[in-house]
Amino acid sequence: MLKVRDLRDSFISYFRDSGHQIVPSSSLVPKDDPTLLFTTAGMVQFKPMFAGTVDLAYTRAASVQKCFRTSDLENVGKTKRHCTFFEMLGNFSFGDYFKKEAIEFAWEYSTAIIKFPRERIWISIYEDDDEAFDLWRGRIGIPAEKIVRLGKADNFWGPAGDSGACGLCSELYLDRGPEFGCGSPDCKPGCDCERFLEYWKLVFNQYYQDTAGALSPLPRTGIDTGMGLERLSTLVQNVDSIYETDELRQVAEFICRERGVKYEGVNAQCVNILVEHGRALTFAISDGAYPSNEGRGYVLRRIIRRALRYARMIGVHEPFLHKIVDPLVSIM
Ligand code: ALA
Repeated sequence: MLKVRDLRDSFISYFRDSGHQIVPSSSLVPKDDPTLLFTTAGMVQFKPMFAGTVDLAYTRAASVQKCFRTSDLENVGKTKRHCTFFEMLGNFSFGDYFKKEAIEFAWEYSTAIIKFPRERIWISIYEDDDEAFDLWRGRIGIPAEKIVRLGKADNFWGPAGDSGACGLCSELYLDRGPEFGCGSPDCKPGCDCERFLEYWKLVFNQYYQDTAGALSPLPRTGIDTGMGLERLSTLVQNVDSIYETDELRQVAEFICRERGVKYEGVNAQCVNILVEHGRALTFAISDGAYPSNEGRGYVLRRIIRRALRYARMIGVHEPFLHKIVDPLVSIM
């Protein structure tokens, strides 16, 4: 079985072999970007390269980026797939390749390297992006009924922060089978249930959005992709939730052992929240964020409170969260 660690390595070697500069993850606390409290995507450290405001030392890059987002905070633990902290596998082009190659790379990595069965992959595109449709249909051979057109909420991405590169997107989904589904005859990518799991988003950067929200063409088009490592691992390891993948599972097991709780029902949900929030806090604090009353620090405080609320439900009434740090550090 491919472990989370193997997946990081396989992504990096695939893109290194296809001419990408491998760039280390930047900090969760973004440098020189006061409009972003946290690094929310792999592209954040490359914003000036997309915007065309710096000289380029390379035109293709790939990274495994530590990311932090609180838009899904209330979903964490309730669904099997939402995180505040996650790792984003991404490949990027700055005026180098565009849609065709981005689609071909994603397809080849998914089918030849990860070996997802071709017939289980579904695609979404922006509603009127016929160019993307033709590439998926004509070059890759995806049946037309498996290419779903979605609107701006799903298939237009960016900018990160108050201005920057943005563009239409296309997403890859894996059909996990009807047993994961809601049973609706309309169930397909875009449905909220767990059947079609979006695992990779390809953003075709084409516009610059200014602080007033106006779009202008970028000096050069670019590619920004993001694949959630936790979701990819869930699919590759064929487990039910991100918490059952090898790294997070070890943290969950540690908590269950420490607290003497069985990993089932509501207890499992509480343990999952402690795993996720404990990990998010560990990474954020080690990157220099600190709990406080405002801004970034207040986000951490809210996460600590939420973790403690669920910790009580498994009988924790004394300081506990810090105990996760050592096992987490050795696991990751
Ligand atoms: N920047 C895109 C995202 O964060 C890939 O989903």
